[in-house]
Amino acid sequence: MAIVWPFAHYAIRLGLQGLNDGAATGSRLFTRNGPVPNMAVFAHMVVGGLLTLLVSLQLLGSLRARWPRLHHINGYAMFTCAMLAGAGGLAYIALRGTIGGFWMDLGFAIYGTLMIGAAVQTVRNAQRRRIDRHRRWALRLFVLALGSWAYRVHYGIWYALTGGVASNGAFTGAFDLVQNFAFYMPYLLVLEVWFRRPAVQREMSTQTSL
Ligand code: HEM
Repeated sequence: MAIVWPFAHYAIRLGLQGLNDGAATGSRLFTRNGPVPNMAVFAHMVVGGLLTLLVSLQLLGSLRARWPRLHHINGYAMFTCAMLAGAGGLAYIALRGTIGGFWMDLGFAIYGTLMIGAAVQTVRNAQRRRIDRHRRWALRLFVLALGSWAYRVHYGIWYALTGGVASNGAFTGAFDLVQNFAFYMPYLLVLEVWFRRPAVQREMSTQTSL
């Protein structure tokens, strides 16, 4: 949790400030006379920040084993945050669009849609006691929930190593274009490959509790 805390804290604080007085944040995400996109983007930061924290709690195997009720409550809290973060981000893209234009709109819109889909499937399969499927969707949701944090980590590392080659303030450089998808797609693909390993398939299919 410590590793994601600075970003989660930043997102929650900026979101709360924005909901309170968007203009005062000085953020370019604030839209003058645009209460709906403002509400969408700043609220999505608050719930997104909470989601980033909750996911690290949910990943603790000991939590599920020792306090299954807490695992369920945290799971529903994650579901709510993921739905709202996804919906808020998508609404902002539809109403105002991202700074990076078409490719950023597309990358982030796919991200939000996948997050909503993964949250729904995780809960749906848990309620139907399809444990194997529940686990797979939950892991996809974890990857997506940590995606926004990974996005900032990628930028941090890239700027530290190269000083920002192929990246610019309009987010239209080659690195920026790749990043529109690279903060979640490769991780989801690695996860899908991992799911197909015989040992993982065996282990997943023998799980009997959520
Ligand atoms: C894991 C949860 C998430 C967190 C913690 C989070 C956090 C943030 C933060 C802090 C910003 C402002 C960045 C800045 O300017 O400093 C932001 C921007 C944005 N986020 Fe999220 N976000 C999350 C999930 C999502 C999802 C699922 C979408 C889906 C569509 C999304 C779409 C956007 C968009 C469109 C912007 C504005 C892009 C721009 O024009 O600069 N976010 N997010």
